[in-house]
Amino acid sequence: MASITEIKKKAASLREKIKDADYKYFVLDDPDIDDFKYDMIMKELYELEKEYPELITADSPTQRVSGEPTKVFKTIEHKIPMLSLSNSYNFQELVDFDNRVKNILEGAEYEYVCELKFDGLAVSLVYENGRLKTAATRGDGMKGDEVTQNIKTVRSIPLTAGNKNFSDFEVRGELFIKKDDFVKINEEQELRGEKIFANARNTAAGTIKLKDPQIVASRPLNFYSYFIYSDEVKIISHYESLKILEQLKFPVNKNYYKASGINEVKEFCDRMEEIRESLPYDIDGIVVKVNSIAQQEILGSVSRSPRWAIAYKFKAKEAETKILDIVCQVGRTGAVTPVAELQPVFLAGSTISRATLHNFDEIKRKDIRKGDYVKIEKGGDVIPKVLSVILERRTKDSKPYKIPDNCPVCKTKLEKPEEEIYYYCPNYNCPSQVLGRIEHFVSRNAMEIEGLGTSIIQIFVENGFLKNFADIYDLKKYRDRIIDMERFGLKSTDNILTAIENSKQKPFEKVLFALGIRHIGERTAKLLSSHFGSIDNLMNAAEEEILIVHEIGPKIAQSVKTFFSDRKNLELVNRLKKSGLKFESEKKQTKLNEKISGKIFVLTGTLDKYKREDAQKIIEDLGGRVSSSVSKKTDFVLAGSEAGSKLSKAQELGVKVLSENDFEKLIK
Ligand code: IVH
Repeated sequence: MASITEIKKKAASLREKIKDADYKYFVLDDPDIDDFKYDMIMKELYELEKEYPELITADSPTQRVSGEPTKVFKTIEHKIPMLSLSNSYNFQELVDFDNRVKNILEGAEYEYVCELKFDGLAVSLVYENGRLKTAATRGDGMKGDEVTQNIKTVRSIPLTAGNKNFSDFEVRGELFIKKDDFVKINEEQELRGEKIFANARNTAAGTIKLKDPQIVASRPLNFYSYFIYSDEVKIISHYESLKILEQLKFPVNKNYYKASGINEVKEFCDRMEEIRESLPYDIDGIVVKVNSIAQQEILGSVSRSPRWAIAYKFKAKEAETKILDIVCQVGRTGAVTPVAELQPVFLAGSTISRATLHNFDEIKRKDIRKGDYVKIEKGGDVIPKVLSVILERRTKDSKPYKIPDNCPVCKTKLEKPEEEIYYYCPNYNCPSQVLGRIEHFVSRNAMEIEGLGTSIIQIFVENGFLKNFADIYDLKKYRDRIIDMERFGLKSTDNILTAIENSKQKPFEKVLFALGIRHIGERTAKLLSSHFGSIDNLMNAAEEEILIVHEIGPKIAQSVKTFFSDRKNLELVNRLKKSGLKFESEKKQTKLNEKISGKIFVLTGTLDKYKREDAQKIIEDLGGRVSSSVSKKTDFVLAGSEAGSKLSKAQELGVKVLSENDFEKLIK
């Protein structure tokens, strides 16, 4: 039997091997062991740690995905503010920047370091005793959200780092998702019938704020570092910082360059703009930084941007193409949106054949016509925009776009409410609306019926199995026919039917949202469901009663009344009730507590007995409201330990402060 010291040593050596393999694979992009070998080492470490859990260290690679989902992100104050950059869009602006630098430095020699401007989000990593202690987002520059658990899943970020000179330090850099990984993530989202992300940057930003590190780990996040701060070692130049980061095995992008004058900066910018598309990640420009830290200090900063650095932004990616046709799409509410069908054109890495035109006002404003040549732009977004018409290329016979009189799908005459910009197809049975309503009903934030994606709904509609969303719960009677259909089979049919059955457990607020009542988003559905407690109460409520609910205005109140005054909708609700969906809140109105009902609470500090969401739910269930900031209107501040500015504000304003014990007494 090995001694505990030997086992400790063994664990340490396995961890070291994994760290080294991660570095070679994720940072150097030059692995020296294959996946199988890597997995075997990892497995050995897992097993060792399972047998000797007391030996698990927070920085063990087995702990990259660990811990419970985060409930609320803590706020972290940045030791040094995280500044942003001022932008320049052409060479002249770079020259102006250079002149300002020259003037302030009064004739001293200076150099620049140029780097790529990654299109991601900035994060700060704080290491203590060579261990990653906290990771935070930029937030407002002064303080950000603590996202340590999520950052640990990024395998190019070392969990332990440092050397004899560096043990306590902060590293900053950019978190991003590579272009092809972004495409894959969206493909998977689509397959699962989930939301499509607009661009890689938003996906990275959304991912780092997910509560569950397991899901974060499944999304390939990358990191490039560009700053290191330390109180231990005096670093004299930015160039040296980058070299230190490389030595400490942090990922540093290879495309950085020391330039001795603004002309060399310009050459670098042009070179990088040329290779931009061939890079595996998105960049939106170049960052130019004065190299000497002493000179950076002389230059200082104005408002939130340093005077020693500037971003040179590349021009948005534009192309010219022809509008082959302008077609209209009809959504679930009947709203009609025009879309331009384009002569396919290659732009920024993909072929584009459609662009959104938003609404008819936009077509009129830009005078966009069928047959026009137009400039289109692709930001980081999936759906490109039409920027402008190239009037010189317009043909003589071109005619202004005419808003269609009838629905392109069902031919019903379109209507336009006076106060809105959209035109609507008023035909409730319009196939496009039917499909849209069912899609909305099953969508992730509504009934979340997995497996019932658009193409499958379409097949079911075509076969007459589905005419509306209430039919979903009768689909089981077609089980045998579905199994026999192409694309289905026993397993996938039963998966869909099980997902449908499971959706019956969704709470009333989700069901209310799924009904697709116009103007009722997720939040409104929540407010209405907790106020009225049941669909019957809501249906029977007069418009004035609905208006009493905080945040609910006349547009919504009227929409609710209109919805329930329609027999078709009442029938749908009745059928859904019979199918067993929830039309009552778990906690009903009767529970209203007069000490809490109508009162405004602010929660602050760390609560010991409750998770924040739970405390919020208790308050809301009892008829109270939770607000994020303290004002004269606040009735109670529930303060946990380490409560900060909100507590002092409450004391200042004389707002009643409750301890957790006081709160418990109040809710009893
Ligand atoms: S330096 C004071 N370097 O651009 C210097 N930022 O507008 C501030 N960014 O928040 C940051 N690549 O998210 C720096 N090589 C790079 C960068 C970079 C991307 C982002 C970063 C920052 C924003 C500034």
